[in-house]
Amino acid sequence: MKNATLHQLRVFEAVARHSSFTRAAEELFLTQPTVSMQVKQLAKAVGLPLFEQVGKRLYLTEAGKELYSTCQEVFERLSQFEVTTANLKGLKQGTLRLAVVTTAKYVIPRLLGPFCQEYPGIDVSITVTNHERLIGDIADNRHDLYILSQPPEDLDVSIHPFLENPLVVVAHRSNPLVKEKNIPLKRLAQEPFIMREPGSGTRKAVQQLFEQSNCELKVKLDLGSNEVIKQAIAGGLGISVLSIHTLALEGKDSPLAILDAEEFPIQKMWYVVYPAGKQLSIIAKAFFDYLMTDGKVVAEQTAPTGIFDYVKKK
Ligand code: PGA
Repeated sequence: MKNATLHQLRVFEAVARHSSFTRAAEELFLTQPTVSMQVKQLAKAVGLPLFEQVGKRLYLTEAGKELYSTCQEVFERLSQFEVTTANLKGLKQGTLRLAVVTTAKYVIPRLLGPFCQEYPGIDVSITVTNHERLIGDIADNRHDLYILSQPPEDLDVSIHPFLENPLVVVAHRSNPLVKEKNIPLKRLAQEPFIMREPGSGTRKAVQQLFEQSNCELKVKLDLGSNEVIKQAIAGGLGISVLSIHTLALEGKDSPLAILDAEEFPIQKMWYVVYPAGKQLSIIAKAFFDYLMTDGKVVAEQTAPTGIFDYVKKK
């Protein structure tokens, strides 16, 4: 193993965790050929193949499985070491690792401004992903703090309510429904519907509401991002349900409008979550305390005007 590098181990770990070269490449911001090359060189250093491809699926070989669990131990020890050194350095230096669901990416970076001004030596990394992948990250203890709407029930986690995340029905502003009030779910179900991808918490919340009311949605498109959905609505492809925060920067001339529909907004809440036994670094603890106090205030004060008015009116 003396020719193997830490970088190769990180790349291998991501491929093994996702069972996919493509997903690992996306996560690490590398190209797929680079990822394949790193894994190939690692396999050469090990002297045995690490993956086997059966049909379309990628499996770890025996050697691959051994190396994967070794990697998990190595990275866990390294992250403990990072916590220790960060604590030794106090709040002057170190990295804050956050993971947030796609709906929260419209708020968290804004809140970081005042925090980073206070602690200029701190580097921040924010992973933005959907509900299901975030739960996987919590289980793997990959970051310091996590922000999401539906905390996992089957993991031992510490859960702290943070901010409202109302889900609203969004349509093109030329849609005749824009003029109606209290639109019944059955009427919404007749519109072509654009849904978030499987694994999204927003999708889960929408499906639950329509199933409970025995309404079947006409799903025309599954799209993997809030921004793409907004473009699709603007392109006249249908209506959707999105976090109200995704509309934060829509100006007066936006092609998008919020519909006044029964049962909406779906009142969700973001929570700050971390594994129950986790020893937070001094930096993570400082950011957590900030979120629970000034951060909430900054979020509400800096929210573009009008976005909470809709919720208050309802
Ligand atoms: P998501 O976000 O739809 O990107 O998974 C869900 C949430 O707000 O928790």
